[in-house]
Amino acid sequence: MRHLTSLKELSKSEILELLDLADNFIDSEGFIRRDPLFPDKKVVNIFCEPSTRTKISFEIAASNLGCQIIDFDLSSSSLEKGETLKDTIDNLAKMNINLCVLRHKDSVIHELIDQTDSMVFISGGEGSISHPSQGLLDIMTVRHKKDLDNSNILIVGDLDHSRVFQSFIDGMANFDSKITLCGPKELCKDVIDSSNLDYEEDLNKALKGQDVVMALRIQHERFEDKKNLDKESYLSNYQINNEKLQIANDDCIVMHPGPVNQGIEISEDVYNSANSVILDQVANGVAMRMAILIKYLSQ
Ligand code: CP
Repeated sequence: MRHLTSLKELSKSEILELLDLADNFIDSEGFIRRDPLFPDKKVVNIFCEPSTRTKISFEIAASNLGCQIIDFDLSSSSLEKGETLKDTIDNLAKMNINLCVLRHKDSVIHELIDQTDSMVFISGGEGSISHPSQGLLDIMTVRHKKDLDNSNILIVGDLDHSRVFQSFIDGMANFDSKITLCGPKELCKDVIDSSNLDYEEDLNKALKGQDVVMALRIQHERFEDKKNLDKESYLSNYQINNEKLQIANDDCIVMHPGPVNQGIEISEDVYNSANSVILDQVANGVAMRMAILIKYLSQ
């Protein structure tokens, strides 16, 4: 049984198949098509960290496919009484739940996969490590506007804490676009040390010739130590605003996985501009999660 915890697990042809399948669910007017393929399948979303987009889009995707969706509310579950996640999963497996979307701050998904042989696991976000469904919907969004093999893509912001960034570069490793990284060294030092992608500290230089700019949220909740991060300095050096965006190519698209710290990573006018595909990412997320559920429920 296969599970989805990282885009490193997927071949290029599997990624392309998922992109094509997801596109098939979007009609000519941009609405998502329903297809009740799995009336006998039960899907549970267990989100041990907050979520709006991922949790709700997996729920809609499962509903569009005719699945039974099990509402797992963490705060009213027996996890609150001290039951372990391992025991929780054992109990849900006995209730014949077929697939679990799991978000957790730690890498617990791998142990749960090892202990359970009747349930498929899809990561809905694993600490700072991986967010594969987000990576796929981001690649889908780029492909709607740009050539995956021939684009200049800039990723800006809090790289060290971003699972979205990790999954995006894992998936994009299958294509020939040029990816450049940018952000304050304080938020990028681990990635600079571990990645062979180009890093440019100066956003004004980094933006030249870019076709895609992806801004990432500053994830204060994942800071292990207090960073000496000055808001005004971040705004003047790293915020994607109209003035900065003029440096990139005219038709450069602006992405952000959300949630956005409004007025920090991106200015309001850029967020609302014709260059912004941020809400397209959200809409594409439903179709992509339908494609993911089809692939992993069809085993
Ligand atoms: N992009 C993303 O994962 O958003 P949520 O945290 O709202 O799911």
